[in-house]
Amino acid sequence: MTILFINIAQLVNVRESAILLRGEALSQLPVIEDAYLLIEDGMIAAYGKMYELEINIPKLPKNIEDVAGRFIMPCWCDSHTHLVFAGTRENEFIDKINGLSYAEIAANGGGILNSAKKVNDASEDQLYETAMQRVHEVAKLGTGALEIKSGYGLSLAAELKMLRVIKKIKQQSDLTIKATFLGAHTFPLAYKENHEDYLNLIINEMLPAIASEKLADFVDVFCENGFFSTEETDKICQAGKVYGLKPKLHVNQLNSIGGIETGIKNNAVSLDHLETLTEKDIKLLGNFKGCSTLLPTAAFFLRMPYQPARALIHAGAAIVLASDYNPGSSPSGNMNFVTSLSCIQMKMLPQEVVNAATINGAFAIECEKENGSITLGKKANIIITKKIPSLAYLFYSFGTNNIDRVMIKGNFVL
Ligand code: NIG
Ligand code: FE
Repeated sequence: MTILFINIAQLVNVRESAILLRGEALSQLPVIEDAYLLIEDGMIAAYGKMYELEINIPKLPKNIEDVAGRFIMPCWCDSHTHLVFAGTRENEFIDKINGLSYAEIAANGGGILNSAKKVNDASEDQLYETAMQRVHEVAKLGTGALEIKSGYGLSLAAELKMLRVIKKIKQQSDLTIKATFLGAHTFPLAYKENHEDYLNLIINEMLPAIASEKLADFVDVFCENGFFSTEETDKICQAGKVYGLKPKLHVNQLNSIGGIETGIKNNAVSLDHLETLTEKDIKLLGNFKGCSTLLPTAAFFLRMPYQPARALIHAGAAIVLASDYNPGSSPSGNMNFVTSLSCIQMKMLPQEVVNAATINGAFAIECEKENGSITLGKKANIIITKKIPSLAYLFYSFGTNNIDRVMIKGNFVL
């Protein structure tokens, strides 16, 4: 479909080419006021100032939409989710209200193991259907690119089942989808006292099978006390590398145990969570060439301290914002809330949260060539807002639905 949007109040995040934004550069958000935008064949075909429209596009298409008073911006790139899961965990939510901690719930056989049991019992079709509903749900909330992790299987068969579901979503959805293998999410009960055998299962059985079916783009490990040590994380990163899988790691959610050093050593694409950082960690992330991905809704939901976004930006880190959509620590994939919360609780500026959740998010899953900014030739994944007075209003009016329409690959999904 060809469609021309005219009288756009602000066309947001317009870039001729894109680089990963670090430090102070995160606040530089290029916009065009009073703009037009032409979409052709699912791609961004032209844009510019309204007064240049006649010269630049002498033959106007039939389909023209006047969006006066509205903003158009690139869709969110949500670079960290676990949205393939079976069943929800609101019982643990009540346990948390009654005072149990995330670690205590996990130690009682709840948490990830609870979800793993449900995923093992579910069929591939059931998992696909519920996950696809979540993909549609977040697309209507403005997400156009998604990373999805396995990690609720924890056996060869169930990890493959999850990754096949993600592969099918990739084939069926117009969103850009990336798959991450997270077999090292937690130790299954049978391996609680025998870590070595589970590591061997991951390295010698899961990884080769996943690689032979081309089921994953990245490898992830939950590097944390009570989960995977830095040595175990290192081994899995090295094993993934043999199959061309770059690491994206869960580090420093609950403790600072050296996950950041391990990630840097293994050229991680991104290091994610980062609730618990020492001064040294912040310095390391400031010099780290990959992404530092903050998941503030997980901190919100678990009542943990928020990530120190300002200190990280000051140190020069490349901040990314993502939802962590999962049934345990962030049962929402709403990037509008993630970005609002980041302004409110982490003191990020509106311009910074847009960049962190669009172009930097695209870099965190290596899809920056087709997503994350208004750039010629990129996928037409755009959010059209309702009439709003300013960009800041989007984040200030938290919880309000400011999205009028969403287009993914040139088709309206809302
Ligand atoms: O990113 N922290 C590890 N993994 C998920 C939570 C998984 C769960 O509780 O089911 C996270 O927060
Ligand atoms: Fe996560």
